[in-house]
Amino acid sequence: MSESDRLQGKFVAIIGGCGHVGLPLGVKLALAGASTRLVDINQDAVDSVNAGRFPFLEKGGDDQLRRALARGLKAAAGPEAAGAADVLIFVTGTPVDEHLNPKLSEVLRIFELYEPFLGPGKLVVMRSTLFPGTMEHLHERLTRSHPGVRIAFCPERVAQGFALDEIETLPQIVSAFDDESFKAAAELFGALAPAIVKLTPLEAELTKLMANSWRYLEFSIANQFYLICESRGVSFQRVYKAIRHEYPRAAGYKAPGFAAGPCLFKDTMQLASYFDNRFYLGHAAMLVNEGLATFVAERVKEKLGGSLWGRTVGLLGMSFKAENDDVRDSLSFKVRKLLEFAGAHVLCADPYLDWTMPLSAVLQEAEALVLATPHREYRGLQIKVPVVDVWGIYEETELEVFRTEAGSEVDAARHGSLG
Ligand SMILES: NC(=O)c1ccc[n+]([C@@H]2O[C@H](COP(=O)([O-])OP(=O)(O)OC[C@H]3O[C@@H](n4cnc5c(N)ncnc54)[C@H](O)[C@@H]3O)[C@@H](O)[C@H]2O)c1
Repeated sequence: MSESDRLQGKFVAIIGGCGHVGLPLGVKLALAGASTRLVDINQDAVDSVNAGRFPFLEKGGDDQLRRALARGLKAAAGPEAAGAADVLIFVTGTPVDEHLNPKLSEVLRIFELYEPFLGPGKLVVMRSTLFPGTMEHLHERLTRSHPGVRIAFCPERVAQGFALDEIETLPQIVSAFDDESFKAAAELFGALAPAIVKLTPLEAELTKLMANSWRYLEFSIANQFYLICESRGVSFQRVYKAIRHEYPRAAGYKAPGFAAGPCLFKDTMQLASYFDNRFYLGHAAMLVNEGLATFVAERVKEKLGGSLWGRTVGLLGMSFKAENDDVRDSLSFKVRKLLEFAGAHVLCADPYLDWTMPLSAVLQEAEALVLATPHREYRGLQIKVPVVDVWGIYEETELEVFRTEAGSEVDAARHGSLG
């Protein structure tokens, strides 16, 4: 979208504004004409943003950030930067604790810090993924302490690294308890998104959690089948290819791989916690997806003759997904821990992380490799040592498919040449 003045006259503050979700949104709001302040306790990220550099990888990031800065976007570390804003958008992290329950106290603690800035007519937008019922709690609280403040929940649904594109292409869910709050939030996001989907706050909280849990479950199905095949000495890649070969119903069948990152696991656990730990599929998915790391470490051990003591293993990829620099909750670290505990010396490579070793050095020294993150750089490598490759990029499998007479007739009919 080109720059516009659709939000001219609005003053928006984003709490958590230099994070993965807050910053792309702040850039888009500034480009749409809103006077935008990004408030964030991470001083390094604040400095980086004010200097025109995205603190993490984001497609089209630096170019759009510089244009937004030219239109008045500013980042600051102190909460007072949000003081005069008409709209306060909260987008700080919403993690789970060591018992896999939501850390609600953290959400409320940050909210409280900004309550002194609230007053009649102001709009609060919650944008982080929320535990179901959080909106009701905040609404009740504001009704008592700050009557006249409007509140809406407008969850972020972008894919990490592609937020600047997706903010403008995905429909935006907007939910509120009253029409005034809904209208104010819909007006704000209507300047960015192609469509608004109106829900109740509880529906919106569940929509976001169920979308992420569904993805986590989908990956777990592929991983479970991978574990079954590989544990029985069958190549999952061949089975996978056969399942999908000219079989349209399996077109969306996910491939195996590490399902990690800051959202899918914790959102599945939030849903489990909300449903009193009776979200059985969610817990089963966790066991499978997390268990894959253990399986991989065991496989390396097997491939090196049964012991890892004193052996050197290379880990290719430390970020949680390909072509990204985000290591939050990446299973690569779990694999590294397991390998080291079993006595291995582990060398890490990742083209997006400057603290890792160069790929060439890892390839030269490692006695076995794990393909942990399928970065483009790792495709087509000539690997001479044993490799554990859950993603299947090094496994060349061609299915033997024989066209039959009946099939040839169908082909000919399809191409319109049957005489
Ligand atoms: N990363 C994604 O792609 C994505 C996508 C959809 C939804 N979400 C959800 O969005 C929320 C934020 O995720 P994220 O990935 O942007 O996290 P993040 O860690 O990248 O960003 C959060 C930011 O909040 C800042 N912060 C923490 N405490 C603060 C405080 N007291 N005051 C001001 N700033 C503070 C942090 O310094 C950080 O920069 C989570 O609920 C997440 O589940 C994330």
